Amino acid sequence: MNEAIVVENLKKVYSNGVEAVRDISFSVHYGEIFGFLGPNGAGKSTTIKTVIGLLKPTEGKIFLDGIDTLKDPYKARLVKGYASQETAVDDRLTAYENIYLQGKYFHMESSEIEKNAEKLLKMFGLWERRNALVETFSGGMMKRLDIAAALIHQPKILFLDEPTLGLDIQTRSAIWDYIRKFKENGMTIFLTTHYLEEADALCDRVAIIDKGKIMALDRPGALKSQIGGDLITMTFKEDDVSKYLEKIKEIPEIKEVARMENGVYSIVVEKNGDEMIPRLFKMADEFGVHITSVRLKRPTLDDVYMKYTGRTIREAESTRDEGRKMRMMKRRMKR
Ligand SMILES: Nc1ncnc2c1ncn2[C@@H]1O[C@H](COP(=O)(O)OP(=O)(O)OP(=O)(O)O)[C@@H](O)[C@H]1O
Ligand SMILES: [Mg+2]
Repeated sequence: MNEAIVVENLKKVYSNGVEAVRDISFSVHYGEIFGFLGPNGAGKSTTIKTVIGLLKPTEGKIFLDGIDTLKDPYKARLVKGYASQETAVDDRLTAYENIYLQGKYFHMESSEIEKNAEKLLKMFGLWERRNALVETFSGGMMKRLDIAAALIHQPKILFLDEPTLGLDIQTRSAIWDYIRKFKENGMTIFLTTHYLEEADALCDRVAIIDKGKIMALDRPGALKSQIGGDLITMTFKEDDVSKYLEKIKEIPEIKEVARMENGVYSIVVEKNGDEMIPRLFKMADEFGVHITSVRLKRPTLDDVYMKYTGRTIREAESTRDEGRKMRMMKRRMKR
């Protein structure tokens, strides 16, 4: 088995009945940066926690560096490093103590811990502050320390759950640089994110995950080229524009016309969307249809997400928030 990570038919149902991961299979090549992209609640953290052995899968098989992790969990321990979504550093200890303890957890010799800790703290720009209590650190420093600690035992595979969540743009791009450096050193990286730019800029391959399922998996460029060429989105004054849409569907360069959940129409053009727009306006005139807004954009991973789910990642996150609020309100009303 020549893959760093192999996951077969993984399912995770929580004890409250939530099916967080529904039968997913994928593999990650050695030396690649592989990303799970999806909105809140898609099942990213559940997948990562199950793959690294923090949660027991309901069904499925997991191999890390060829080791069957369910049969041989102890052996699998040493090949993986993990930084969780909520940073797991102890803020009443110093940076050095945190990283040292992590080394002890892996039963490393003190001299080896010291050597690796110095290298990592320097690399992550924390060496000067190594003896300061972590409670005096900024969010970005804590995140860097957490990632550094995950690397103390020099794992082959690094798992990062939302490595840049809530960080400012500079800190985020610094973390991207570290991750690229690990890759250059031959490490395999599995990360989760709900930032489109992060998946696009950083990952060799991306799995788009929604409601516990993998909807698409490929290189970012290949995913975007599935969308075809340019995407024109439009809204109309009139509710019924079906005759107009029938007509524009006949234009050979137009590959697809669809109505989205929010009443916006999406029109996929093979190429040169900018030249198509005046034609669409002219035809709208002929049909007595009024275009109220128009936008042209090159395909992004969000368009890929939209293609598979009918909504954007942001919409998916806000509907989930609404759902959460409703559930909370209902619970309060019951009391
Ligand atoms: N311990 C748990 N017990 C029950 N349900 C859970 C538990 N943890 C997560 N869930 C549910 O499982 C689903 C997937 O959650 P998960 O945390 O894996 O999503 P995620 O993609 O990491 O989301 P986020 O972007 O918010 O981190 C959600 O519906 C969530 O409410
Ligand atoms: Mg998560």
